[in-house]
Amino acid sequence: MIPAAAEGWKVHTYAQLPSTQDYVKELGEEGLPEGTVVQCLTQTKGRGRHGREWTSPMGGLYMSALLRPQCAAAIAGQLSFVVAVAVSAAMDEVVKKDHKKTLKWPNDILIDGKKCAGILLESGMAGGMVNWLAAGIGVNIMSAPEGAVCLQEVGKGRQIPVHPFRDIVLSHLKAHYNHWKMQGFSDIRESWLSQAHGLGGKIKVRQPDSETEGIFKDLDKTGALVLSLSGGKEKTVNTGDVFFE
Ligand code: BTN
Repeated sequence: MIPAAAEGWKVHTYAQLPSTQDYVKELGEEGLPEGTVVQCLTQTKGRGRHGREWTSPMGGLYMSALLRPQCAAAIAGQLSFVVAVAVSAAMDEVVKKDHKKTLKWPNDILIDGKKCAGILLESGMAGGMVNWLAAGIGVNIMSAPEGAVCLQEVGKGRQIPVHPFRDIVLSHLKAHYNHWKMQGFSDIRESWLSQAHGLGGKIKVRQPDSETEGIFKDLDKTGALVLSLSGGKEKTVNTGDVFFE
């Protein structure tokens, strides 16, 4: 284990783990402090949302940060937008301006419409409050699966080494997390909306037992997606997969 420097965080870097997310969840239960970060160079069982596989070859960023936001579960959903906006800000430092970066609800980061990063938030409760929250971040840096994109393809021409990029992400995460704690969700929501993929356009939301079509109208104060349905009604969606037309 190699401790690394990223101000305000205690980063533990491993060569290989099954999943940084599983490890940080354990550390959360064990009572490790907020700010503990686990990173590894490759994962053998990297996980995405809905239990999907997250392929994790060498040359990508795979890390999970342990947060203890001390809030109710309903509020903790906002943190996935805090993390998305922070990772997006880190990408701005390395991605060439002529590429278009957008944020896909709830927390994917796309470049020129292709996925470059994904975020997975999981939490544990105690006494009705969030006891720990594991913010898992995966960024394609040197390579990407079929149909996705990596930073190296859209970067400013220089190599993008994983560890310095990790520290850029962590410094933005610290700033955005502190802002959220002090000021609440409003600015984060505005920032997310200003980068939202497909806002105002037709979308389809797929949930385990339904599919809904409508116009992507807004993000509400909890982070739920607001859909405008034909006939004038609105529907808020807390979880699901979004498809664009
Ligand atoms: C998604 O897009 O579905 C979320 C992907 C999250 C992947 C990261 S990589 C680091 C952490 N460890 C995991 O097993 N998953 C997350």
